[in-house]
This record gives sequence, C-alpha cells and structure tokens, in this order.
Amino acid sequence: MDKRPIGIFDSGVGGLTILAEIKKQLPNENIVYLGDTANFPYGDKSKDEIINFSRNNVKRLIKENVKMIVIACGTATSQAIDTLKKEFDIPIIGIIEPTVKYIKEKKYKKIGVIATEGTIKSKAWESALKNNINDIQVINKACPMLATIAEEGRAMGEEGKRAIKEYMKPFKQNKIDKIILGCTHYPIYEKLIKEELEYDVELINTGITVANYLKFYLNEKNAQNTSRKDKEIAYLTKPEPYFKNIAKNILDFDIKIK
Ligand code: DGL
Repeated sequence: MDKRPIGIFDSGVGGLTILAEIKKQLPNENIVYLGDTANFPYGDKSKDEIINFSRNNVKRLIKENVKMIVIACGTATSQAIDTLKKEFDIPIIGIIEPTVKYIKEKKYKKIGVIATEGTIKSKAWESALKNNINDIQVINKACPMLATIAEEGRAMGEEGKRAIKEYMKPFKQNKIDKIILGCTHYPIYEKLIKEELEYDVELINTGITVANYLKFYLNEKNAQNTSRKDKEIAYLTKPEPYFKNIAKNILDFDIKIK
C-alpha cells in the first residue's frame, strides 16, 4: 500500500474530467491536482512550450510527494510524454495509451478523434492507433475553440452549440459512431455532441480508460491506498474565479482550491 497522493495535471479545468473518473474507480486515493491556468490554452502552443510547461508541472507535483503522475491533458500527452518519461523516474501515465488499449480490446476499426489543434497536428493519436491496431481507419478533426469555450464556462451556451455543429460535420456526414474525446475538456460537451449527431454514438471519455488502467496498475504494483485521510486539493498557477464553479459541475465532491 502507498498512501501518497496521485498527481494530476492539465492546462485548466479539463483534467477534472479525468479526476472525476479516477475518484469513481479509486475512491480512497488522495489527489493533488495542478491546473496550469497561467499558460492556458495549451492547444495552440509549440511543442517546446508544451514540454516546458509539462516539465514544470511534473516538478511541482513531485514536491507534493506524489507516487505517480497522470497527464490529464491530450495536448501534453501527445507532445511531452516521451520527454517526461526520459527525464523523470516517477511513473507517468498519459491519456493515449490506456485509450488505444481499450479500442484495441473492443476491436473497433473505424474511429473519429477530436482534439486540440496541437494534438491533431502531432498525429499522436493517429500513430498510436495505427501502430497498435491493424487496418484501423482514423478520422481526425481539430476543434480549436472548444477548450477555451469550456474553460470559460460557456460550453452550454450559443457559442458552444455553434462550435459543436461545425466540428461534428465530418462525423455526421459519414455517420461515424465512435469518437475519442481526445482533449480532456471535451466530456463537458457530451450532451451537445449527442444531440447534434442524432444517431447512437459512443463518445470515448479518456477519464474512464485512464481510471481503468490506473486501477490495474496500482493493483499490480501493490500501490493502492486503502486508508484515506486527506482531501483532494487543486493548485492553480494563476487564480481563476471560474474554476470553482466548473469544478462543482464536473465533480460530485468538493475540492479545495489554492
Ligand atoms: N485539456 C487539454 C487537452 O486535453 C488542453 C486544452 C488546452 O489547453 O488547449 O488537450
């Protein structure tokens, strides 16, 4: 057993969708969340910038004595995970590997991916899917506005609806019925996406695949926490008044924000 917390980071509120699923599956785990709000959004930054931000986030979380790091961000996973794994000894899990594993197990052969501009340009999802699954067809769509609209708490308003209508076009036309939410802000749009597509669609929430993976991993390493005392805590690199309200909508428990 390992009582130390799990460290989770994202550019802002998006990673809370991962945290929510981790707490459902691993309710005893202590969590330290880091939202790099000072550098939000990550989606339009260069690879070097993403590596720098991510490196700082890992260093910050290590100071909190975490037992491992979850990169709860598609953009940071797609561009920084390899470098971080080389630079740090601590176990690091991103959102791509657990999700590709799930898709492989399900034997899906045609899949949509929506993510930030940086993630789609990096081709990280496409390569990981194609390297692991024979003959898989991948339909990518960058959605540059979605993370920002969600971060500012406007996802369910007119702007969110308009953006979803536009970004869902390639999937709607071809009736793609399995779509990876390749940015952790996107589960906030689940309802709108389903309404827009009008047919039965599986939206793959990376929080669920990451939580499954994590549960298995901690079990295997005998590193779960079975007796919990602390509370979840979130640090922000820049105070953001909206964070608390969005956290309330995503999480079914209170998180202390510092
Ligand atoms: N939530 C992040 C992701 O999964 C980052 C979005 C952003 O900061 O642009 O990609």
